[in-house]
Amino acid sequence: MRNTDTIVILTGAGISAESGLQTFRAEDGLWCGHKVEEVATPEGFARNPQKVQQFYNMRRAQLQDVSPNAAHQAIAGLAGRWRGEIVLITQNVDDLHQRAMEGVTPKGNYACYPMHGSLKRVRCTASEEVSEWDSDLSAEHTCLCCNLRGTLRPDIVWFGEMPYFLEEIGAALDRATLFVSIGTSGSVYPAAGFVQQLRLEKRAHLVELNLEPSAGSQYFHERHYGKATEIVPVFFGGM
Ligand code: APR
Repeated sequence: MRNTDTIVILTGAGISAESGLQTFRAEDGLWCGHKVEEVATPEGFARNPQKVQQFYNMRRAQLQDVSPNAAHQAIAGLAGRWRGEIVLITQNVDDLHQRAMEGVTPKGNYACYPMHGSLKRVRCTASEEVSEWDSDLSAEHTCLCCNLRGTLRPDIVWFGEMPYFLEEIGAALDRATLFVSIGTSGSVYPAAGFVQQLRLEKRAHLVELNLEPSAGSQYFHERHYGKATEIVPVFFGGM
């Protein structure tokens, strides 16, 4: 790797697991205790907004009790010394990457794209305006944009909705010389398809860092399996 190359990093729930946040598809994961169609689809929200708000209120509240771990910090540390470009694409809606970057001045170009939204933001369904939010949300809340009650929803990309930043992500994948996928099962598209696209294009070196082989593990050139807090700092440590 040259210090001018573009590193694209894709992260999933596994990178935050050791901070104390549940992943989705583990045996005791979020999708075990909750039905996806009830809490992570626009139809589920229309049917029972209170149940959906409660699910995200619980997860938003949890953020106060967790901190970035050594894997988030290893990426932030790399951003502090890499003269090239780092594009961090995360499917996570926690704010741990953002918090790990606090106090770090990127040496080169750095961008973070939370493609599935954020627990710390809400969106007004009437105006589409997005605002910062860090407390519980309910149907009783009034939005600041149109002063309507009950229009606010978590700014989370649900199944059947379009992820954020797809244009920026597509352009970053075109520039990638190294692609590192961390802590994702590779089961949700479009993120699951990034490695397949890059494999076909044959320009980037493709690395998987995960607890176990993901659904697309065969597309990677290099694979390391173990806990994110152990393997991510080792992988980026030499760069
Ligand atoms: N270190 C590294 N990897 C881990 C760790 C750990 N400590 N713990 C778990 N993992 C791995 C698991 O082996 C699994 O492959 O992280 C992955 C987590 O997979 P999922 O639970 O499917 O989470 P993710 O891939 O982020 O899900 C993608 O699905 O439900 C939607 O929108 C949601 O963004 C989410 C998307």
